[in-house]
Amino acid sequence: MRPTQAPFPSTRLRRMRASAALRDLAQENRLGVQDLIWPIFIRDGDNSEDPVTSMPGVSRMTIDRAVRAAERAANLGIPALCLFPYTDAALKTPECAEAWNPDNLSNRAIRAIKAAVPEIAVMTDVALDPYNSNGHDGLVRDGVILNDETVAALVRMALAQAEAGADILGPSDMMDGRIGAMRAALESAGFQNTTILSYAAKYASAFYGPFRDAVGASGALKGDKKTYQMNPGNSNEALRLIERDLREGADMVMVKPGMPYLDICRRVKDSFGVPTYAYQVSGEYAMIRGAANNGWINGEAVMMESLLCFKRAGCDGILTYFAPEAATLLGGKPL
Ligand code: PBG
Repeated sequence: MRPTQAPFPSTRLRRMRASAALRDLAQENRLGVQDLIWPIFIRDGDNSEDPVTSMPGVSRMTIDRAVRAAERAANLGIPALCLFPYTDAALKTPECAEAWNPDNLSNRAIRAIKAAVPEIAVMTDVALDPYNSNGHDGLVRDGVILNDETVAALVRMALAQAEAGADILGPSDMMDGRIGAMRAALESAGFQNTTILSYAAKYASAFYGPFRDAVGASGALKGDKKTYQMNPGNSNEALRLIERDLREGADMVMVKPGMPYLDICRRVKDSFGVPTYAYQVSGEYAMIRGAANNGWINGEAVMMESLLCFKRAGCDGILTYFAPEAATLLGGKPL
């Protein structure tokens, strides 16, 4: 619907932009700390961090450091953390059994964070790639990524994460039927309140490159993920995937990557009106940070603008590596 307006000069749209106060009053969408989910990388060891080269400012943290990060996030008002484990190559196998080990790195981190900072929501990644010797999100036989066998493995993984205390399960694997299988297993195991944020519209994207370095999957990955992740040329298919996952019991849905896919965010929000999130992925972070570190853009301004634009596109929240920095800049006052 377009508002009725008088012709110029009765209407001068610049009037409402003339002062900060008027711009504030007329602002349609806002970014606040409550919109942020902070993805962090976890590694084994004590009291140390090592930087991710392709993501300046981001590091892999030992569990004790991750607990401190969770305390910092809670103090800043960030509602949720999302954990990604950097798994020792020796633990990666074609069967991926480490994925559902109740004491794997990720599950130990969930327990430690929930024990120390119970108010922060902990989100997980449900996919086999950190545990797979061939780097894929699913089990591989004769070069084929198996769907149904992978779903069974993902259900075991999801139950172990729920058992460890995860609040939000994030299936990022793109297998067919995994949401329904996970939801049924969670219900029958008594995890009625464990939520699922489905990576429903996840594209086969080159923007994930730095992430694969961060979790140590780059070297392992053979081939690409195009038989399970979406074709970047498609838009209607995203709606079919979202609808399917909602019918199977997803509580929230995600579009990923973020900035190049804001049109998908808008279509999803308009079509379904459900809690919708975007993932501003590692490559997007690296582009902004890299250009800022070279003095080519104003990093803080571009970061905040990029995050606000997700809200304008209809997202309820954003997974972003900028979360603590953005929250610090917001300082309790929405942008
Ligand atoms: C894998 C997974 C990926 C990301 C989140 N979970 C990478 C991939 O699909 O290869 C990417 C996140 C990012 O790039 O920041 N299950």
